[in-house]
Amino acid sequence: VSSGVEHGAGVQSAEQASPRAVGADVQRVLVLGGSSEIALAIVAELQRRGPCEVALLGRDEARLSDAARSLERAGCARVLTHPLDARERGSHAEELGRAVSALGGLDTAIVAVGVLGERGGMPADIDAALETIDVNLLGAGSLLLHTAALMRAGGGGRIAVLSSVAAERPRRANVVYGAAKAGLDSLARGLGDDLHEDGVHVLVVRPGFVHTRMTSGLRAAPLSTTADAVARATADGLERGAQTIWVPAALRWLMLVIRFLPRQVLRRVRS
Ligand SMILES: NC(=O)c1ccc[n+]([C@@H]2O[C@H](COP(=O)([O-])OP(=O)(O)OC[C@H]3O[C@@H](n4cnc5c(N)ncnc54)[C@H](OP(=O)(O)O)[C@@H]3O)[C@@H](O)[C@H]2O)c1
Repeated sequence: VSSGVEHGAGVQSAEQASPRAVGADVQRVLVLGGSSEIALAIVAELQRRGPCEVALLGRDEARLSDAARSLERAGCARVLTHPLDARERGSHAEELGRAVSALGGLDTAIVAVGVLGERGGMPADIDAALETIDVNLLGAGSLLLHTAALMRAGGGGRIAVLSSVAAERPRRANVVYGAAKAGLDSLARGLGDDLHEDGVHVLVVRPGFVHTRMTSGLRAAPLSTTADAVARATADGLERGAQTIWVPAALRWLMLVIRFLPRQVLRRVRS
């Protein structure tokens, strides 16, 4: 983050930090979408299970600084912040490379960048809809690919990708968001298979409705959950090498039913 932003004692901007070796037991975590409530809950949960050093990448300096302080309070000894816009794909390789070298390496990455955009079917604002696809699919996809490349070059690592149950089947309630998440989800699963032998583990996380800034003001869907619950399930999934998880877990079975519903039936469901 540019100078002028004040950080707490353990928080440094990436520009101020230099590469260094950390103890083998310290997990170096990269967060793409560093102000995401779900991602921050995941890092706090990882920190509860073992010491983490973290790089938060995002587009809003003030929110990143707040996020860094919250992770400090959660016990993270070192939190770097670094600017990143998902839509500026041409800068991703350089920004990620810089953040990882400042962190001194990379063990775990969380791809959390996302926007909900306009709900419903045919968008009223097509440009805004394309922006949703730009951020959620092209932006997040670019970040995922560059992260995977860095990990493969570095000998392996773990990537948690925040997909959604919306990725599983197109529905009238969220046509554009669902399409973008379906693309990202598919990219993540394909990469997970291809990079398995290179030691890169990709975990696809499919939460349902999570109470965060993204969904504030919306009517909660059935089986709604919290960022902390997604965090615990993600940390468990990373530990056991899972490929796809649903949060809450019961959504796996609900979505299995929805996946096989005839389109004529699903078409009648508007929410
Ligand atoms: N909440 C849910 O119900 C739910 C359910 C399923 C999946 N998810 C997915 O989980 C992920 C995290 O969501 P959340 O609930 O934690 O919401 P959130 O707090 O709003 O997090 C979204 C993150 O994406 C970042 N972002 C958006 N556009 C960006 C851009 N152009 N460049 C860089 N960063 C950008 C936001 O940064 P700013 O602070 O700058 O806005 C924020 O850090 C998202 O991918 C979301 O689609 C959420």
